[in-house]
Amino acid sequence: MAPFLTSGFPRRRRVLVTATLAFFIWALLPIESFNPPRRLLNSVMAAGGLEIGATTLTGNGSVGGILRYVDPLIGTVNGGATLPYGKDLKSTVLLIQATGILTGFSGMAKAVADVDNWGEIAAGFVSDSSKVTGFSHLHDSDYYYTWVLIWNLGTGGSPSLGNFPLFVHAGCPDGSYLECNYPGAARATERIENTTVARPGYFSIALNNSVGYEMTAATHTTLFRFNIPDQEDILLPTGIVVPNSPVLLLELTDLGWTRRGGDIQVDPETGRMTGSGKFSPSFGRGQYSAYFCADFKGAGVRKTGTFVNTKANETVKGMGRGSSTGSTMPAGSVGGFVQFDRPLGSQFLARVGLSFMSVAQACQNGEREIPDFDFDSVVLASEQAWCEKLSVIQVDKVGVNNDLLTTFWSGLYRALLSPQDYTGENPLWNSSEPYFDSFYCIWDSFRAQHTLLTLVDPKEQTRMVRALIDIYKHEGKLPDCRMSFAKGYTQGGSNGDVVLADAFLKKLHDGIDWDLGYEAVISDAEVEPDDWTSEGRGNLEAWKAYGFIPNDDDDKNHTGPQTRTVSRTVEYAYEDFTIALMARGLGKKDDERKYLERSKNWENVFDPDAEDQYTDGGRGVVGSEFKGFMQPRSRNGAFQYQNMRLCSPVYEMHKCYFDTVYDTYEGSPWLYTFYVPQDMASLIVTLGGKEAFINRLSYFHSSGIIYMGNEQSFLPTYQFHYGGRPGLSSYWLHQYIPGQFNSSINGIPGNDDCAMGAFTTFAFMGFFPVAGQDVYLLTPPLFREVRLQTPSGKPATIRNIGFDPSYEAIYIQEARLNGKPYTKNWITHDFFYHGGLLELTLGPQESEWGTRDEDLPPSSSTQANAP
Ligand SMILES: *[C@@H]1O[C@H](CO)[C@@H](O)[C@H](O)[C@H]1NC(C)=O
Ligand SMILES: *[C@@H]1O[C@H](CO)[C@@H](O)[C@H](O)[C@H]1NC(C)=O
Ligand SMILES: *[C@@H]1O[C@H](CO)[C@@H](O)[C@H](O)[C@H]1NC(C)=O
Ligand SMILES: *[C@@H]1O[C@H](CO)[C@@H](O)[C@H](O)[C@H]1NC(C)=O
Ligand SMILES: *[C@@H]1O[C@H](CO)[C@@H](O)[C@H](O)[C@H]1NC(C)=O
Ligand SMILES: *[C@@H]1O[C@H](CO)[C@@H](O)[C@H](O)[C@H]1NC(C)=O
Repeated sequence: MAPFLTSGFPRRRRVLVTATLAFFIWALLPIESFNPPRRLLNSVMAAGGLEIGATTLTGNGSVGGILRYVDPLIGTVNGGATLPYGKDLKSTVLLIQATGILTGFSGMAKAVADVDNWGEIAAGFVSDSSKVTGFSHLHDSDYYYTWVLIWNLGTGGSPSLGNFPLFVHAGCPDGSYLECNYPGAARATERIENTTVARPGYFSIALNNSVGYEMTAATHTTLFRFNIPDQEDILLPTGIVVPNSPVLLLELTDLGWTRRGGDIQVDPETGRMTGSGKFSPSFGRGQYSAYFCADFKGAGVRKTGTFVNTKANETVKGMGRGSSTGSTMPAGSVGGFVQFDRPLGSQFLARVGLSFMSVAQACQNGEREIPDFDFDSVVLASEQAWCEKLSVIQVDKVGVNNDLLTTFWSGLYRALLSPQDYTGENPLWNSSEPYFDSFYCIWDSFRAQHTLLTLVDPKEQTRMVRALIDIYKHEGKLPDCRMSFAKGYTQGGSNGDVVLADAFLKKLHDGIDWDLGYEAVISDAEVEPDDWTSEGRGNLEAWKAYGFIPNDDDDKNHTGPQTRTVSRTVEYAYEDFTIALMARGLGKKDDERKYLERSKNWENVFDPDAEDQYTDGGRGVVGSEFKGFMQPRSRNGAFQYQNMRLCSPVYEMHKCYFDTVYDTYEGSPWLYTFYVPQDMASLIVTLGGKEAFINRLSYFHSSGIIYMGNEQSFLPTYQFHYGGRPGLSSYWLHQYIPGQFNSSINGIPGNDDCAMGAFTTFAFMGFFPVAGQDVYLLTPPLFREVRLQTPSGKPATIRNIGFDPSYEAIYIQEARLNGKPYTKNWITHDFFYHGGLLELTLGPQESEWGTRDEDLPPSSSTQANAP
């Protein structure tokens, strides 16, 4: 789940989603006015029924190949019971995010319809239905969904980006630009039901103002195609007839109305609009500047000018210090406009180049990336790029229904949407290293997303690691959360350490300075920053002195929220373990010993006497027989009490955030008691042995205490492996897919954060990584066969023998790796690096496979089976 604050700090909005099913109806447009771009058609069903990503181009307008199974609308509805924070809703802002992304990792530009319920912003006006206020270009990859509802919990703060929205009127009353609506609240327009089309690289919607909006994007440039009725006079839905003379306006704002200053200039000849604004990031500190350069094609320029609130003015061609007039920038709703002649045909286009460096660079970006305004070929290029990215995985789809195929491919698609490649657009420092932004946040992404990228796109993951290390070099610490060139707030530990260790163990190297990378993780472990609100670790002195973070520690030297002492203790312990693995790989024996020792610190917050019992409003004492949980502890060694279930779905789910007083973050002591990935063998002994452990983990899954909508629940779904019951991991996976992860519009249990998609991808493929270790836990793929491209060129193939598409036979009976019997219930990265064939024979009952001690995944206390 995204980081979340309840008070005192700017809030990061809960991101939930809503949408209606999209059908292709341009309700108010003559159908011939809309030319769907040529689409890709799947060509091939290779021998053996493997669905492969190769494509051929056809003109028949059907989306084929694997893109057919990518539905960006999944997860885009407020899921009723699955709406985790719904009860606190006060108002909503709906942001429709087009997935106009050319490269797999989103380019900077994302064309988007911004839909606002202005209930909160425009006092006095409350609307039940969200209206579209404009289409903007930059969006934070936190908000991955195509349609995203940002639930605003009441005060302050802001949603991210959404800068420089465009809007088009088909015409103005009396043909006069003065008569059109300019500010957001006034221009907000209902959408026509069922007109939304969302595909990778393409988004369209019709609004109830006789305009159909289509959009796509290249890396730093958005391209819009506006569809206007092909008539001299247009009867608007309001009943007013207007001359066909569209007005396009561009407002200098963002979704959170955080603009300060800025400027705008409109060229009276060409209509080119250029300008900038200073804005605030959503979950971090500071400010960033963004620049745009908008050009138009397809209709003659009739009038140009600027507007301030409701007043447009054609004599004022610029505002703000950067403009030719050099005036001060008014507050409120300001921007520029162009009124066009009736478009040739029934369409005209707007291209918006973007930059974080300068207007000149924004214009260059636009001109270079989309020189000829060729909408269809931009869409096509985007589809091709997506096909290429996705087709590193091949699956045998025989027997697998379309819902599951859609769940799988859409999950992989979402896992590739972030972080954002801003290389060449970083105003903060000059560097030859790549620059990525929107690590949003690594707490969310280190478990499943970055580990997935290491497999499906090692080249980009390598560049991201280089970017992280370069951020360390220039900012002094690795980021935990980072957006819009600002440091974001830290949710747990210093999870960048795990990302680096994982990449190191999996031998990513091209251009990575591992000495500097190692220096960065040691800095996290040893050097407390002055303010650890948004980087590094806190309470380090106490951590080193006591071996845990006391909940009454008073860290006078530095500042940061001195909460989350239990979750930070178990996280710091695991991060130190991953540092020990790096130290081992680099031959630094002393460091290895030191950090292995610290990795045992979880033991210090384990209270053997803590009971899972509580008094629940009149129902008396309830709970379970389980005893022994991670608990807060004070400096004098005494355990303090935090309810075992606090901050789980069954009890006060919403109490454990960044700035609240509790000792666990976004989860309960129940949950954090399982967070010992470095030494599950010891944890199992601590919890009373294998049987007791399996009972406890099963109870965790069956009692409703687990919340699959948050990333911390991924690993516990697979931890049955450590108790010698790999079959139970498979059992629970099949409960969650499709029970919680599916292809319906509410088919994601929580914020996607790219992570939910990554989790699904792994689950379908039949393995899950223990991030920060060279370990993948094995379960049967949900396909008869899965093939993954490897750096060696030879695929890594996992084949089910006795595959049962009704999923009765979900238990591995025996396994063969490259023809030889394989009994371990886990595998190393070697398989995915060099390729090979893993054959799994399935049956309807659990078997002896993978259950013996020597078959279990490694634990730091039992060296025997270490990789
Ligand atoms: C939109 O689609 C939904 C779902 O198919 C359908 O129930 C509804 O009638 C449609 N609305 C319109 C205006 O066509
Ligand atoms: C469009 O707007 C008109 C006028 O406000 C209204 O009567 C009509 O119901 C709207 N149609 C849709 C589909 O929202
Ligand atoms: C437009 O701005 C000019 C210069 O500030 C001003 O003289 C003129 O009255 C304005 N026109 C309208 C219609 O507001
Ligand atoms: C980067 O280098 C350019 C060209 O030398 C210089 O103009 C600019 O100020 C530098 N930027 C930073 C942030 O150092
Ligand atoms: C913290 O401050 C105290 C008192 O000023 C000083 O003695 C101590 O060395 C400081 N510790 C660190 C880690 O800076
Ligand atoms: C799909 O997932 C959602 C959200 O997790 C869940 O509420 C819904 O019941 C699931 N649908 C099916 C058919 O399992």
